[in-house]
Amino acid sequence: MQQVISSIKKIPSGIEGLDNVLQGGIPQKRILLLVGGPGSGKTTMSMEFLYHGIKNSKEKGMYVTFEEDPKHMIENTQSFGWDIGGLERSGMLTLLDLSGLLLGSTVSVDSISELINNQVKEKNIARLVIDGMTSLVVQESSERVRRKNIIRFFRALHDNGCTILVTSESAQEGFSLEEYLAHGVIKLESFLKDDLLMTSIRIAKLRGSAHDRHPHPYKVGEHGFTVFSSASVSVASVYEDE
Ligand SMILES: Nc1ncnc2c1ncn2[C@@H]1O[C@H](COP(=O)(O)OP(=O)(O)OP(=O)(O)O)[C@@H](O)[C@H]1O
Ligand SMILES: [Mg+2]
Repeated sequence: MQQVISSIKKIPSGIEGLDNVLQGGIPQKRILLLVGGPGSGKTTMSMEFLYHGIKNSKEKGMYVTFEEDPKHMIENTQSFGWDIGGLERSGMLTLLDLSGLLLGSTVSVDSISELINNQVKEKNIARLVIDGMTSLVVQESSERVRRKNIIRFFRALHDNGCTILVTSESAQEGFSLEEYLAHGVIKLESFLKDDLLMTSIRIAKLRGSAHDRHPHPYKVGEHGFTVFSSASVSVASVYEDE
């Protein structure tokens, strides 16, 4: 019998230095979770992933937000020179604002994933960003229901064939449920060193794939998100201030 050897294809993230740390890029057609605190750069990295997919690979992108008003996001990313509004008008980028849905009574995750997947199919989307998954998850207070919801949400999204980046806030302590359930997890962390606030990025997991496990410095600057993949951060320094 012929043996099938699984090999996960990776696609370029478009983020400077990140593909070195991921040893090739973002796993195609899988769900990668980007976890970080407020202002750590989650939205910037996600938009850059979509922008580069459109510019360099002609892959259509969709940005789904549960939190930030897309108008503000467009304004905030204007200084990077990405012309998000123009990409939207050309049809290469779809912005889907679902923040209003979560303001009313509890919405089922099934109806949300269906709404997203219909758009993916209709518009032939290849790269998908779900920004602010925490807002969706915290609708339920029971951990058992939250876990079930995340599994259903991820499973439904995974079926749509896109390469998916989901952002989530860091847990107050320990790990959040979605970190166990995603295929891969990237962590954005910060710590004090000689009174200076340092930021580091670390691949916590990447199922079925080799990757760098060490934290590396990163910054959000005038050109967007940059990972300094050849510089390292001492693991001890990341944790000693927590
Ligand atoms: N054009 C820019 N030039 C330099 N730094 C910027 C620029 N735009 C954003 N930043 C910095 O990057 C930070 C991160 O922004 P971003 O919105 O991506 O973070 P986030 O993790 O999505 O935040 P939130 O938790 O509020 O959603 C900003 O707070 C700001 O310090
Ligand atoms: Mg954000």
